[in-house]
Amino acid sequence: MDKNTYQHWSETKYLKDLVTNPLIEVGDYSYFSGYYDHQNFEDGCVRYHWGDDASRALFNPQAEFGWQLDRLIIGRYVCIASGVVILMGGNHNHHSDWISAYPFPEQIAASYEPKGDTIIEDGAWLGMRALIMPGVHIGQGAIIAAGAVVVKDVPAYAVVGGNPARILKSRFTPADIETLQAIDWYHWPIEKVQAAQSILASHSVADLQQFHENY
Ligand SMILES: CC(C)(COP(=O)(O)OP(=O)(O)OC[C@H]1O[C@@H](n2cnc3c(N)ncnc32)[C@H](O)[C@@H]1OP(=O)(O)O)[C@@H](O)C(=O)NCCC(=O)NCCS
Repeated sequence: MDKNTYQHWSETKYLKDLVTNPLIEVGDYSYFSGYYDHQNFEDGCVRYHWGDDASRALFNPQAEFGWQLDRLIIGRYVCIASGVVILMGGNHNHHSDWISAYPFPEQIAASYEPKGDTIIEDGAWLGMRALIMPGVHIGQGAIIAAGAVVVKDVPAYAVVGGNPARILKSRFTPADIETLQAIDWYHWPIEKVQAAQSILASHSVADLQQFHENY
């Protein structure tokens, strides 16, 4: 069966098993839950991003036009729900400050302007039909609400929602966030993560710190 086909909403696939695009970097355990909407991660969830099999066969804007293409960098333990759109291109050749936002073919090669890499850090959860605009940096453990339109960077452990997405709340106190970032459980060996699972499924950062010190 095609690796991009989902049979049921309960099915998830590791991004590591889906991604072939050299401009997409993905960490271990990060997954796409792609049953609803477009099921293809590289060419559906991620959009207007040169470098998947189909676009590589068509043209190479890096070699042909000298474009410095942005990269998509996704950390570890990231959860991506169905219908999420990570917009990578499409915003680079239409200039709002030009008289014409229409991309005349003769101007395409010179009109490209990079937006910066899109970065989704470890442990983020992207809710259904969230739209991530080009060049956004989503911090560690952030939650993007269903239907959010994310146009700006999202701080670590913030919950953001709406259009344009605004901070709805923080998941932890600033002190706990500092501790979580120092502990960085996302990079522990899997045996240690497994041993800590019941604590990871609680709100107690102090317990996690203690576990970390005693392990
Ligand atoms: C963002 C989310 C995680 C918040 O859940 P929660 O922590 O239980 O928080 P609450 O429901 O108490 O909502 C907190 C605030 O955010 C608002 N809010 C919740 N979801 C929102 C959304 N999708 N868009 C905008 N605002 C939202 C609530 O109205 C509330 O506002 P208030 O404080 O002014 O009353 C959740 O609403 C969500 O969108 N989850 C994504 C679900 C999904 O996509 N699942 C796919 C399968 S994995």
